[in-house]
Amino acid sequence: HGGRFDDHMGNEIDEQPAVAARVLDAFAGGIADGSLWRSLGLAGFDRIHRVVVLGCGTSLHAGIAIGRVFSDLGHLPVTALVASEASSFVPEPHTLVIAISQSGETADILRALDALSFPDRTLLALTNNPYSSLAREADAVIDCLAGVEIGVAATKTFVAQVMTGVAVALSGLCGSARVDRVDARAALEALTETPLRLDAALRGWSDSIPLLTEEFADASGFLFLGRGSGVVYAAEGALKLKELTYRWAEHQPAGELKHGPLALVENGTPVLAVDVGDRRLDINIAEVLARGGRVVRIAGVGPDPVGDLRPAPPWGPLEAVVPLQLFARSLAIRLDRNVDKPRNLAKSVTVD
Ligand code: M6R
Repeated sequence: HGGRFDDHMGNEIDEQPAVAARVLDAFAGGIADGSLWRSLGLAGFDRIHRVVVLGCGTSLHAGIAIGRVFSDLGHLPVTALVASEASSFVPEPHTLVIAISQSGETADILRALDALSFPDRTLLALTNNPYSSLAREADAVIDCLAGVEIGVAATKTFVAQVMTGVAVALSGLCGSARVDRVDARAALEALTETPLRLDAALRGWSDSIPLLTEEFADASGFLFLGRGSGVVYAAEGALKLKELTYRWAEHQPAGELKHGPLALVENGTPVLAVDVGDRRLDINIAEVLARGGRVVRIAGVGPDPVGDLRPAPPWGPLEAVVPLQLFARSLAIRLDRNVDKPRNLAKSVTVD
């Protein structure tokens, strides 16, 4: 496999810092002067009134993270659309649709494009295959440069999609009069640090993942929590866990716990919480601990958050995906699952 691990997934997780660095090499130079955005031939940023991010599974999660850049920094309304449910979308002029698909061949995505063909719509395809069916349909295409991903579970393509989409969004923002330069510059700086943070997360979590795997090997269900920009990483962690281990997992915005899901927590229930520095999460974690739940806090680049808490950028703590991927893979291997080819699933989903 040309990597340290016997499975593709392990190597693809390992490659993520290099993939993030490749995306920066290719696109970061076009952010501050807005040239990346212009090179895509997109309408001027100030002519966009709404952004729709469209995708399935992990690619939808990448879209949600990217969408937060347009809403938080660009103050644009953003809609995240599950591709298989796109027919309920009410068209609006001056909408930028960003369709995110690793393969570019996902049937749900291609079908959604019919529902989303209305006047004054711009379609940007963000894909790992610039020759795909999706790319052919789009007004503009950006290649997320992840390289071939063989594992059915999306890992390095998620990182590549978030990095690429954020680069495009920031480039648009930098060319706009509406945007606060200081915020955009801080965001660009945070994006530039990502390869280092991914690398630190890989190293920082490597010792504790085997311990967590043993601790939770017999758990039948898992809860993933987050707040704000952390919610989508909780969602991604739950998806990886289900897909790879065949154990039940659900994610919740942490504030929703008390509205129902807290009833699931009993002695020993594993709860993984993505911490983006919103202190209300501590209250939610205390509720879980009071019921005997076992909490893993995912903050910063290692299991010990002390000294590494900083506010997450608008797209959230991308490096938080590393321990979530590592944990899902490790537990799957412990349970004797095939981590590259989970049961019932395909890499490219070309059916409805
Ligand atoms: O090729 P796509 O990005 O359109 O695929 C979308 C989903 O099928 C995909 O992300 C799926 O959720 C992954 N297997 C999750 O790891």
